[in-house]
Amino acid sequence: MRRLIPKFLTVLTVTTACSAQGFDGDWDAAYTKATTALAKLSLSEKIGIVSGVGWGKGPCSGTTSAARSINYPALCLQDGPLGVRSAASITAFPAGIQAGATWDRALMRERGRGIGEETRALGIHVILGPVAGPLGQFAQGGRNWEGFSNDPYLSGVANEQTIAGIQEAGAQACVKHYILNEQERDRETMNSVVDDRTLHELYLWPFAEAVRAGVASIMCSYNRVDGTYACENRRLMEDLLKNELGFKGYVLTDWNAQHSTAESANTGLDMTMPGSAQNGGNVFWGSRLQSAVSAGQVQMSRLDDMVKRILAAWYFTKQDVGYPDTKIDRRTNNGGPNVQGSHSTIARAVARDGIVLLKNTDGILPLKSPKSIAIIGSDAVPNPRGINSCQDMGCNQGTLTMGWGSGSATLPYVSSPADTITTRAKKDGTTVTLSASDTASQGRSTAQNAEVAIVFITADSGEAYITVEGHAGDRKDLFAWHNGEALVKAVAEVNKNVIVVVHTVGPIILEGFADLSNVKAILWAGLPGQEAGNALVDVLYGDYSPSGKLPYTIAKTASDYGTTIQGYSDNFREGLFIDYRALEKNRITPRYEFGYGLSYTTFNYSSLVIYGSPSSGAETGPTVPGGASSLFEVVATVAVNVTNSGSATAAEVPQLYIGFPDSAPGTPARQLRGFDKLSLQPGEGATVRFELRRKDLSFWDAPAKKWSLPKGTFGVEVGASSRDIRLTEIQHFVAVRNALSSSIGSSAIPSKTSHR
Ligand code: NOJ
Repeated sequence: MRRLIPKFLTVLTVTTACSAQGFDGDWDAAYTKATTALAKLSLSEKIGIVSGVGWGKGPCSGTTSAARSINYPALCLQDGPLGVRSAASITAFPAGIQAGATWDRALMRERGRGIGEETRALGIHVILGPVAGPLGQFAQGGRNWEGFSNDPYLSGVANEQTIAGIQEAGAQACVKHYILNEQERDRETMNSVVDDRTLHELYLWPFAEAVRAGVASIMCSYNRVDGTYACENRRLMEDLLKNELGFKGYVLTDWNAQHSTAESANTGLDMTMPGSAQNGGNVFWGSRLQSAVSAGQVQMSRLDDMVKRILAAWYFTKQDVGYPDTKIDRRTNNGGPNVQGSHSTIARAVARDGIVLLKNTDGILPLKSPKSIAIIGSDAVPNPRGINSCQDMGCNQGTLTMGWGSGSATLPYVSSPADTITTRAKKDGTTVTLSASDTASQGRSTAQNAEVAIVFITADSGEAYITVEGHAGDRKDLFAWHNGEALVKAVAEVNKNVIVVVHTVGPIILEGFADLSNVKAILWAGLPGQEAGNALVDVLYGDYSPSGKLPYTIAKTASDYGTTIQGYSDNFREGLFIDYRALEKNRITPRYEFGYGLSYTTFNYSSLVIYGSPSSGAETGPTVPGGASSLFEVVATVAVNVTNSGSATAAEVPQLYIGFPDSAPGTPARQLRGFDKLSLQPGEGATVRFELRRKDLSFWDAPAKKWSLPKGTFGVEVGASSRDIRLTEIQHFVAVRNALSSSIGSSAIPSKTSHR
């Protein structure tokens, strides 16, 4: 996809930001094998393949029964999205949201591959990730950090790349939680009601990209949708996933998200997890499913379809040949062998390249051998009680590397900011003082005589089964925890060179200090996993220029987002307008916008060229994984030159935003539809080509129940963020030069050609 040909001061490199980069497996061949295997199975073997053995009764978070007649193993399903949960010596990768902040396809894929390799090495068949939902309807949503971004396009690309990486390594990915499970509060009773267009253009989009990428399995969520539980919802599982999106793998429940025997089977559920009685009630499948089949309440053909889907996914990922035996066992607390390999390198790269530089006055960063540094805040040091002392990371003590819940993993170690800064500072002869406390008075006294003060603050969230400092999964508010704002202000009263480092699950309100002149820099360090300190020092000292971009908006007040956690019922009243789409619509200026991030260099954008002449109208063609085949045809290309015009080697993320014509009324003013990440030396330039698929230029025509490419002129904008648009006309939606017309396409092809 990317071909870098370094050339000083000239534009010779051509890169193509393209899609359709999923896992390269063969579903047809897998189905042929699955059909042959199915014929050898007894009824009870079939039931065993679709039913979990029960919580605590198998080695994994979820385990099914083996079918000896076909050499099919007891399938082992284990959390989670940032690394293998409850294993002894794995890599605790940066969280999904940090991978999203890199905007780097290659890194997303490598992170996925690393997770997949460790999954396979432990003999685990299915890793319960990545996360496409929650998407991020609510900034306070407790589990947003497990996913990649609240923009469906960015989340879709990240899911695609992660799934491809996981499955290339041999493990099965399980994209979750399907769907409209946007908050932790009331998650098991919540009823979500959304209009069809919003569903398709926002919440279903990343799941559709996951299906396109060849994901093996999908986890249905706890909540209800239109009054019916997601795991017994025909519209969600059968109509949308299997018919409209052509999903060939299997749907499994979230843990105890099943509520019926025949109903769930007949509406499209393929596997139940973990297979235990719920709330003292029923085990819905296992022997009950067998009885339902015998009684004709569930057709044998439906049971066969479930089994075929599960077996096909197993063959599709080639787990039938030489897959390792399961090496973990939760019943005996056996965490398995060390499977880290050299993955710390990729963990560090993701942690580093996801760091977003928000403010950098007087070029205070990178640090230039200051005489003295004061390090302030409890987030600068490892949790003094032990880095894994809180169950499932359910506390915010010591440096914050991930949120809490089933999406957490055991840290093998943590590279702490205080340690790594101190080690590095010694080389320059810099004196370091440390106040590992969040108390303002202590911070002030430590900072007052230092040349530079680095203040660490946090915000945490997680899954509802743990409440931390009053946050029951979802955050209660969007402020920094532990009086972080007061700490920064106190330090800024006594020190002129304050650098704020934020480890956080999502946006926090920065208004209390962002404009203070003594707060010279703000580094958004996200959720970096085990490599926290190393990644931070790479950027603080300029060994690498920061290159992360915000995967969400940082607003000035919580109400600017226009959405807030709901009780019992979520009606998605804001429709398509979440995050930057909402702020644009309501003409609200954010503090830092979606896609924003500074660098140690500057970039020049030039020569926008648009070509392609897509025909307007509805999608056509047979259903392929992801939807109608025409949706994935490249119908237009936008090319732009980006040059590093400063003096540091650095990476930039040019972003393509599309405005739809009036014939698609109600569409957000601009929506992300392309990006790429380019590493450029000073003076070096590159041509980026964004390939637009028919789907990228279509809206969901709800009455017609189809994607449709509207007639008229599109706005085409390329920039360094969603508000820092570098190439467009003022009247961008009618500008001839920068507009893409669905009826009159330009045929100008840039001289440099590209490749997929
Ligand atoms: C419930 C969570 O919602 C899900 O993400 C996880 O995979 C299962 N528990 C299993 O731990």
